[in-house]
Amino acid sequence: MPITNPLRVGLRQERVISPQCLIIFGASGDLTHRKLVPALFELFKQRRLPQEFAVIGCARRRWSDEEFRHKMEHSLTKEIQENPKEWKEFSSSLFYEPVNLENSQDILTLRERLNEIDKLKATHANRTFYLSVSPKFYSSGCKALASAGLLNDPKRSRIVIEKPFGRDFSSAQSLNKLVQTCALESQIFRIDHYLGKETVQNILVMRFANTIFEPIWNRNFISNVQITSGETVGVEDRAAYYETSGALRDMVQNHLTQMLAITAMEPPGHFDPEAIRNEKAKVLQAAHLADELEPWKCCVRGQYSKGGSKSNPLMGYREEPGVSPNSTTETYVAMKLFINNWRWQGVPFYIRTGKRLAKRTSEVVLTFREAPVHLFDAAGGSPTSNQLILRIQPNEGAEFKFEVKSPGSGMRSRPVEMEFSYDESFGEPSDEGYVRLLADAMLGDPTLFTRSDEVEAAWRLYTPLLEIIEDSPWQLPTYQYEARTWGPSEADALLAKDHLLWRRP
Ligand code: BG6
Repeated sequence: MPITNPLRVGLRQERVISPQCLIIFGASGDLTHRKLVPALFELFKQRRLPQEFAVIGCARRRWSDEEFRHKMEHSLTKEIQENPKEWKEFSSSLFYEPVNLENSQDILTLRERLNEIDKLKATHANRTFYLSVSPKFYSSGCKALASAGLLNDPKRSRIVIEKPFGRDFSSAQSLNKLVQTCALESQIFRIDHYLGKETVQNILVMRFANTIFEPIWNRNFISNVQITSGETVGVEDRAAYYETSGALRDMVQNHLTQMLAITAMEPPGHFDPEAIRNEKAKVLQAAHLADELEPWKCCVRGQYSKGGSKSNPLMGYREEPGVSPNSTTETYVAMKLFINNWRWQGVPFYIRTGKRLAKRTSEVVLTFREAPVHLFDAAGGSPTSNQLILRIQPNEGAEFKFEVKSPGSGMRSRPVEMEFSYDESFGEPSDEGYVRLLADAMLGDPTLFTRSDEVEAAWRLYTPLLEIIEDSPWQLPTYQYEARTWGPSEADALLAKDHLLWRRP
């Protein structure tokens, strides 16, 4: 008989958010109108928000409640046209309070306002504080909330912190220490929106709800793993941030590392938040760069140069507004890692991400070992290895590649694909990551949020590369690649050394 775990508390099916006030710092910023308010409106339409609910937008601008509501309306024009009644009702729960997080008087005024809203909306002092501000305000923000007593009740108050959490191992460690003096770890929700994606969560379900995968999910059967997150967009209007970050900090340390952790972790003993996060932290602690003595040999950095087509020419990164003409910031990273544990020892994990690549795609590809003896002629010379491709986005789903007999009198083999598509199977688009994560934060379910030790392990993993970029950048130059291609040829060479190719999604 299979064991049903009585302790299954994380990711429960039927979950009800208690009366709640969500306070968004950085409410005049992009994330609030592009992602957070649309996600809250979606939760409202799905009737997943409680009746007793309020959002308080906070930023330095002196907007009124009405102005804040209008600003949010702009981002949701189509949604509002389709659901005018719902918007009217939802927007009556949006409030605004001008707050400078570094001004203690502003925080005291906010506290008064929160008390008023508690009475008005019966939100019972259940508060989720969302720091969607520049990372330089994370420390002062947490301190200000703590000294105003707003984080005193660990059952009713939580704090959500956006990425990037730190710039490197030591700054992440200091930030963790500081935040933990302001709140308990159980109150701290470090957000990584990739964990909110249905398809990333699906890796857990595919692995641990089926019996066929786990027995072969290891070094005996898998020859290598590729994790890709490619974007077609460039730096857009975020040069000021991106110039200080680059792809390693912007994508690899968080989103790609989380996909790696979920793909490679051991099965947890129970399905509860800490058991899952323990396993993720453990696997990240066992991960290391493929060449620890000469780390520059296992990593390639790139930067997009101009490209595109005649009808849609694209400028190079250095020509983008706000980018230095001599910038060496990487918009592409590829690297090779190993995980030093019983399951994965010797299996290379190749990860890559880039902006202005040929296609928008995120996927995890597990390539299985070759058949030991080739009995049949194969189309293309030799049989292709079996592959399991977990498509994170777009065209969410999974596919399995295997060899079959090619029709005809001979015995030739050729590869075919077996496919699962979310769209075809479920017929409805899955929620945006932020819908899931905002609901989970308000529910107090930390399963899909990164714990302090995970964040530190992720930074520690990339420390040798960050140090080279800082101290001897010539060892990790940024190779140019034409916009809308698959990155620099040096990244192909990284795999060619192992007689492999990147998958072309
Ligand atoms: C963000 C990065 O965290 O993720 C962006 O800061 C990137 O640079 C984005 O474009 C990608 O997210 P998604 O969900 O579109 O793959």
